[in-house]
Amino acid sequence: MADLSTDFLGIKSPNPFWLASAPPTDKAYNVVRAFEAGWGGVVWKTLGEAGPPIVNVNGPRYGAIWGADRRLLGLNNIELITDRPLEVNLREIKQVKRDWPDRAMIVSLMVPCEEQAWKAILPLVEETGADGIELNFGCPHGMSERGMGSAVGQVPEYIEMVTRWCKQNTRMPVIVKLTPNITDIRYPARAAKKGGADAVSLINTISSITSVNLDSFSPEPSIDGRGTHGGYCGPAVKPIALNMVAEIARDAETRGLPISGIGGVTTWRDAAEFLALGAGTVQVCTAAMTYGFKIVQEMISGLSQYLDEKEITLAELTGRAVPNVTDWQYLNLNYVTKARIDQDACIKCGRCYAACEDTSHQAIAMSPDRVFTVKDDECVACNLCVNVCPVDGCITMERMEAGVVDPRTGVTVSDDYANWTTHPNNPAARPAAE
Ligand SMILES: Cc1cc2nc3c(=O)[nH]c(=O)nc-3n(C[C@H](O)[C@H](O)[C@H](O)COP(=O)(O)O)c2cc1C
Ligand code: SF4
Ligand code: SF4
Repeated sequence: MADLSTDFLGIKSPNPFWLASAPPTDKAYNVVRAFEAGWGGVVWKTLGEAGPPIVNVNGPRYGAIWGADRRLLGLNNIELITDRPLEVNLREIKQVKRDWPDRAMIVSLMVPCEEQAWKAILPLVEETGADGIELNFGCPHGMSERGMGSAVGQVPEYIEMVTRWCKQNTRMPVIVKLTPNITDIRYPARAAKKGGADAVSLINTISSITSVNLDSFSPEPSIDGRGTHGGYCGPAVKPIALNMVAEIARDAETRGLPISGIGGVTTWRDAAEFLALGAGTVQVCTAAMTYGFKIVQEMISGLSQYLDEKEITLAELTGRAVPNVTDWQYLNLNYVTKARIDQDACIKCGRCYAACEDTSHQAIAMSPDRVFTVKDDECVACNLCVNVCPVDGCITMERMEAGVVDPRTGVTVSDDYANWTTHPNNPAARPAAE
């Protein structure tokens, strides 16, 4: 079994699978059971300042999107930060950390955007023996209207300022949790780095309304006939999160800044993808809420087996895909493929034909007895047919060999690398970069 032990900012955990700050990490009872199940660490549910506890709604908190098999694809919530008293949380954090010294214990924090408020809470957290803090600049609902959460995370100057306050007032490592509710994730990440952040974590939830009840005309979840936007998470948000992680990993100004990847991680594969794009740990919320704490065991065994099969270490996986993420202009325009249909696997449903005929390039022929074949002289290799085909592996994209003439363009395929920067149609063409 490959060694999955992780050192993130000097914080050690037996594996890179942490639970994200959310209901699974809201109390000792949950966290202890999570550790028993095998989770490498947790980010405790966000704590607020001392005083009267946060008030949550008493009606439903969640909206959802399901696949055809009712598998949960996206979850939307209108929950706020912890509604348990600060001192109770701190006491439990201290006890759990003492009982589980080998697990990562990060405490998520969100207090008003005033230096005094941060100065007041940091020593209290430090006293618990926690390994680090995560600044919640992400919640898009409820707290943002009060000038916290994503209201801070959407203003790079505030991120930098609060991060600096925290770095000046604690010796604990500071992870800045970023909101995806922003146009370009590189700006808040750069601000966090400028403020002295030891790492960033992302993504928090995406502002969303998942559905509208067409009888009551209220957004779901409906609280006495009215709804509000919530934060979207789960498998549906993974592509957005992966892109944002990659953007930070390859940005010249933030390259090398440690990242904890969050968003839709459900299987070891999801986790491995985040790691390959530069994350040092991953955090999980929705998958644990959907399937329970034991899913971590599949993640651990799957990732170990994958590393063994690939004969690489966890450290070698981390960031391995980053050099392969590039801008469109550097993609190889001489890479020519055509769709190929495996007639033995084909169930003759005709989806590929409908998709290509109506919305792509009329490159699939259908015979009277429903044999589907690709017309190479029309196929632009978009791979829409691959994606709509219900049979996995039935349609594949095959590369044309160098020296062969592409019947669509009449051009002989070359194995030289050539991209848009040098293409004759590009008015700004210049010698190949990269
Ligand atoms: C019900 C619920 C409550 C959450 N509360 C918090 C929170 O208090 N602090 C925080 O930083 N993130 C919170 N999150 C966001 C998660 O930590 C995580 O960033 C997000 O759910 C994406 O991960 P996932 O796709 O694995 O769920 C919450 C998410 C959910 C579903
Ligand atoms: S790859 Fe695109 S163009 Fe080619 S057959 Fe499939 S859908 Fe049509
Ligand atoms: S979509 Fe796939 S299974 Fe259906 S006809 Fe096309 S190749 Fe065959």
